[in-house]
Amino acid sequence: MDPSVRQADWKLIADQVEALAQDDGLWLPLMANASALVMEAVPHLNWVGFYLAIEAAPGRCELVLGPFQGRVACVRIALGRGVCGTAVIRNQTQRVDDVHAFPGHIACDSASRSEVVVPLHNESGRVVAVLDVDSPLPARFSASDVAGLELVATTVERCCRLGSWEL
Ligand code: SME
Repeated sequence: MDPSVRQADWKLIADQVEALAQDDGLWLPLMANASALVMEAVPHLNWVGFYLAIEAAPGRCELVLGPFQGRVACVRIALGRGVCGTAVIRNQTQRVDDVHAFPGHIACDSASRSEVVVPLHNESGRVVAVLDVDSPLPARFSASDVAGLELVATTVERCCRLGSWEL
């Protein structure tokens, strides 16, 4: 199967995420359904999910595992660690074509070969979560896949309240 996903398909996926959002703006069911949707709609993925930036101690945030699809994953990631923590610190999408070549990559699933991590923001523009997508194929993600995942992330940002993590 051709692993590339056309831009039009990403728009469809983002539209479906929006359609799944409820009026109540709850983040938990939307992140859970967005993970399931991307995992089902996009070929050659082995992990799709969210990490939430949570205050572990006064003034110290860390990433904590949120809704996901895939194998059991590490629960806490320090900011600046791994691909996820790097995306937060830099406030920038990370595309890693070869996870073994990324210094400090955290291998939750040894099958992962490439990865994209997109930061999500609250209404003030602060990074409060990340969307992490892994593939067992090296260099699985094209520039258009990155744009599509960013569209999914901004759709989740727009459709629910992020950051307080209350239900
Ligand atoms: N690989 C990530 C850790 C999360 S798992 O892939 C689900 C990282 O290096 O931050």
